[in-house]
Amino acid sequence: MKTIAIILAAGQGTRMRSSLPKVLHPLLGRPMALYTLEAALQVTAARPVMVVGHGADQVRAALGDLADYVIQEPQLGTGHAVQQAADLLRGQADTVLVLAADMPLLTTHTLTRLVQAQQSHHGPLTMLTVLSDQSRGFGRVLRDPHGRLLAIVEQAQATPEQLAIRELNVGVYCFAAAWLWEALERVPLSPKGEYYLTDLLGIAVQDGLPVQALVVEESAEAIGVNNRLHLAEAEAILRQRINQAWMLAGVTLIDPASTYIEPGVQIGQDTVIWPNTYLQGHTVVGAACTLGPNTIIRDSQLGDRCEVLASVLEKAVLEDDVDIGPFARLRTGAHLAQGVHMGNFGEIKNAYLGPGTKMGHFSYVGDATIGPQVNIGAGTVFCNYDGEHKHHTEIGAGVFIGSDTMLVAPLKIGDGARTGAGSVVTKDVPENSLAVGIPARVIRKMEKRD
Ligand code: UD1
Ligand code: CA
Repeated sequence: MKTIAIILAAGQGTRMRSSLPKVLHPLLGRPMALYTLEAALQVTAARPVMVVGHGADQVRAALGDLADYVIQEPQLGTGHAVQQAADLLRGQADTVLVLAADMPLLTTHTLTRLVQAQQSHHGPLTMLTVLSDQSRGFGRVLRDPHGRLLAIVEQAQATPEQLAIRELNVGVYCFAAAWLWEALERVPLSPKGEYYLTDLLGIAVQDGLPVQALVVEESAEAIGVNNRLHLAEAEAILRQRINQAWMLAGVTLIDPASTYIEPGVQIGQDTVIWPNTYLQGHTVVGAACTLGPNTIIRDSQLGDRCEVLASVLEKAVLEDDVDIGPFARLRTGAHLAQGVHMGNFGEIKNAYLGPGTKMGHFSYVGDATIGPQVNIGAGTVFCNYDGEHKHHTEIGAGVFIGSDTMLVAPLKIGDGARTGAGSVVTKDVPENSLAVGIPARVIRKMEKRD
């Protein structure tokens, strides 16, 4: 039995009050629609069809070829939206799963149950419902006194008695494909001038066909995002799911409510995360690290036993046993080898610091390759930019850079060399030599320190 999903994403999303299409509003750093799309992909194993209209080009550009697209123009309601996929899908699938791109919390577990329920049933449709006291504007599910499904009534058209009904339409359905394409032709125009997908239930019942509903187990799954209050609710629930999974996998979160871990992140066992810490993008954290409080780590790789306190890292690599912060900033291409120590108010960009190198206090390192066991004194600046070009600095093993040294690139400092405090180094320094002054001159060769 082949199943294909149709994801509705053409609506304007007026209630968001935004110039960004609703389905592209980010949740934990990724467009809302991506959650539905990925869930559908996992359940159906076929490429879903996305119905786009409002902001169609933007939506396509953001989601790429994870889906096929059909355009709905003008947008005449959810029934009309599904109809736009009919020509593409007729004869291609036995079962059609329909869901909306503004339902990011639906799990593959629930969607799988829904598809299985429809496939093991003789009727034309299985719908998802939720029992909740908070209606959030959802359609009400009408049943007869025997509990048999009758129809869905939209909130705007519901009578006061119908408004009191606690069973709500989640807006996710699984259909027998052949019946769906035929029945869509019979959907009447609503009082609002739209074709409602929800009318298909009433049509099936009038035809005397068996229909069924599956009630979602977790009512939070059925939160639809129509405005920014719902967006914040959805974000909090997604965050909670991710945090719970990491805690069960052996990661300590001191305060889960103020810990922000995006879906693409990996974390090793026994890592401890202090409050107000953000792990974003494709970040990988090793085992037994301590992160935060007050830390942002984006698209970075950390080895085991690293400590990062109150710092900001982006596209950085930390090998094992690196400790940084408070108030360190690592920018793109910062690579700190094993055991590097970086204290407060440092900035590193596009530079490699060899094993055991130390940079304790307020320094800037840019465009550099630094050997092992180097000491970078307080206030050192790698002057990598001459106003037009960036230049590289190379520092050998065991070098001692005195406090407040200006290293004017391009520059090479040989193994075991030293610079005096306050030097401005404009020429290469040979190994095991001491250079001092402005501009710095080599004043003597030193005994090899062992
Ligand atoms: C819909 C259901 C309601 C259900 C609720 C659950 C209908 C008529 N009502 O209401 O019973 O309780 O979902 O979330 O179906 N869309 C299009 N084209 C259109 C209109 C909408 O693609 O012409 C898309 C939207 O982008 C959105 C989805 O369909 O992703 C649902 O539309 P929305 O306007 O949010 O419907 P609800 O009012 O939430
Ligand atoms: Ca909605």
